[in-house]
Amino acid sequence: MRHLVGIIGNNYSGSMNRKLLQYIQRRYRDRFALTLLETGTLPLFSQDAEAHPPAVVTAFRTAITAADGVIVATPEHNHSVPAVLKNALDWCSRIEHPLEDKRVMVIGASLGPMGTVRAQTHLRQILDAPGIGAQVLPGNEFLMGRAGQKFDVHGQLVDLGTAAFLDTCIANYLEFLERA
Ligand SMILES: Cc1cc2nc3c(=O)[nH]c(=O)nc-3n(C[C@H](O)[C@H](O)[C@H](O)COP(=O)(O)O)c2cc1C
Repeated sequence: MRHLVGIIGNNYSGSMNRKLLQYIQRRYRDRFALTLLETGTLPLFSQDAEAHPPAVVTAFRTAITAADGVIVATPEHNHSVPAVLKNALDWCSRIEHPLEDKRVMVIGASLGPMGTVRAQTHLRQILDAPGIGAQVLPGNEFLMGRAGQKFDVHGQLVDLGTAAFLDTCIANYLEFLERA
């Protein structure tokens, strides 16, 4: 079975994007194992520390290197990715490049109607930076707007149209992982 990691793009305890990744973890557990990685535990990136990064950074990067693929769930903060997610990606761009040629799926959930479209556009640009060099699944824009109304108290997706579209995007991502 494939082993993927899911990067949670915020440090908020009530994060919708964590909830979304947890839902994916449960719903597709027969098809892949998904380990969730927190970004809020990483210290602020500094070039002073890059030659001798803290253990938490090394563990974060090692988990990505070992994974068959990566799903990044981003919220939208002021029309871009949250600072904690950008920080995590900066740690993955210097000395070690765990995302290089890694096949990545971008998803996101927001409370507003736009479903992180601006953040996801920025995230795709960041993942294409020379220090990062990920292979991002094209198309498949899984934009969950009004996320506060999409889950029940058990974290289940109650919007069946959204769940069906997620099935399609995940199937496309799994096919992308199989490509030579
Ligand atoms: C600092 C900040 C900036 C935000 N900016 C945006 C924004 O630009 N667009 C948007 O749709 N939602 C914005 N929101 C609302 C988020 O959609 C909402 O907080 C959402 O729950 C974030 O995802 P999360 O639950 O995974 O943290 C912002 C929230 C915060 C705290």
